[in-house]
Amino acid sequence: MTSRPQARSFFSRAAGVFATCAIAVSGLVGASCKPDKMPFKPDESRTFAGDITVSGAELNKGYQSYMRYCYACHGEKGDGKGPASYSLRPPPRDFTRGVFKFARMTSSDHYPNDADLVRIVKGGLHGTAMLPWDISEEELLRVLQFIKAFGPLNENGEQEYKNSRWEKIRKKTGKVYDVLPEWTPEADPWVGKEAEAVMRGKELYHLRAECVNCHPGFDTKENLYKMSVEANKRDPNTFSVMKSVRDDVYHSQAKKSDEYGVLIMPPDFTMDFVRSAHPETRVADLYRILSFGVYPVMPAWKGAGLSDSDIYALAHYVNSLIELRGKTAALELKDKLNNQKPFEFPKEEEAKPAETTPPADGEKKDGEATGDKKDEKKPEDAKKDEKKPEEKKPEEKKPEEKK
Ligand code: HEC
Ligand code: HEC
Repeated sequence: MTSRPQARSFFSRAAGVFATCAIAVSGLVGASCKPDKMPFKPDESRTFAGDITVSGAELNKGYQSYMRYCYACHGEKGDGKGPASYSLRPPPRDFTRGVFKFARMTSSDHYPNDADLVRIVKGGLHGTAMLPWDISEEELLRVLQFIKAFGPLNENGEQEYKNSRWEKIRKKTGKVYDVLPEWTPEADPWVGKEAEAVMRGKELYHLRAECVNCHPGFDTKENLYKMSVEANKRDPNTFSVMKSVRDDVYHSQAKKSDEYGVLIMPPDFTMDFVRSAHPETRVADLYRILSFGVYPVMPAWKGAGLSDSDIYALAHYVNSLIELRGKTAALELKDKLNNQKPFEFPKEEEAKPAETTPPADGEKKDGEATGDKKDEKKPEDAKKDEKKPEEKKPEEKKPEEKK
């Protein structure tokens, strides 16, 4: 009685909707929620991303577990319209679309690695109805294989477990989808230098990495401008002097998303939950989120314009903002931003500080830019970064004010 699965906390709140699975709900033990019909013939099979072939018998077992644990929100047909889904914001994932936000996925030709899906289901998504589930790994893996079998509903609104993305792409190319390889984070180069990481991260966040296109800014316009002048003096290859900020820079910009069918709000880290980061592993989790993005509403930065060390610096900065959550410091920061005095960004001529002779071809001044050790990049990344400052935008849009 004392050590119940964490999932129970949800069930006790929402028990009313589980009429069809009442016994499983009250006990969460025993398979008393047996559906009458099984979706697969035991001797058929399906081949999924990464060339994983699963028998109908296994998929049927996965279906049974799915009906016990997941269907209430994700729906029997996998369309995210289970009986408990209706008031949920964000809505449960619609598995018929085959897109995932936090289990890593960087292109529509990918399907997340099973290890990433296990991480999501076991860890839950903070601030959403998707709680951490305490299911044996074996059973969970069967559920996850079953989820892959969902395809788009047919014109009668039925789920036929046909035409899943795998089959479509196989018809087209003769191949199944790829899964991203399993991933463990690189070592954090900022251990013992967290304060420097936060400063570097703050500069990157506001001046370079376009985070403020979607997420809020976290300093006054005057301070951001001053910070950009300093950063530009120190490292003109990476930072330009700020000439403007977007209107409403202190609020998130909602993102329209056909994939998820709803408007998605980028979090304000001082107030909202970050869904797929957990307190014990937060910096590494943030590093993963920033490296691989949130498909497809937030770009991935790994190999796309920021060195691993800079991605880690951003992770430390975001972590420092998350640490303000629920504290008076967060309110004080909001107050300061709301009550800042008006600030006009200086016009172009004034904005350019005595510009040091520009590098012939972006080669130069490694040493100078990295005179202080904030800039400890891995050599190959540093080179990539410095040589092509313009080619590495992770996303289609650049902030208007960039040079
Ligand atoms: C109480 C409702 C609820 C139940 C029950 C539930 N989920 Fe979810 N699930 C959600 C919501 C809500 C989201 C979307 C969160 C978001 O978009 O931020 C979600 C998202 C997901 C995702 C998508 C993660 C990503 O990266 O996009 C997966 C995978 C998932 N759930 C698997 C499961 C599995 C497997 C079960 C059963 C073991 C389950 N869920 C049970 C509500 C639920
Ligand atoms: C194009 C818009 C866009 C840009 C640019 C962007 N983000 Fe996001 N970000 C989003 C959206 C949208 C979400 C919310 C996803 C959701 O919860 O469904 C998000 C979520 C996040 C999350 C939370 C992920 C989670 O697990 O809940 C973090 C952390 C984050 N962004 C950090 C950053 C940082 C740091 C940058 C700059 C390097 C950045 N973002 C740039 C749109 C953006």
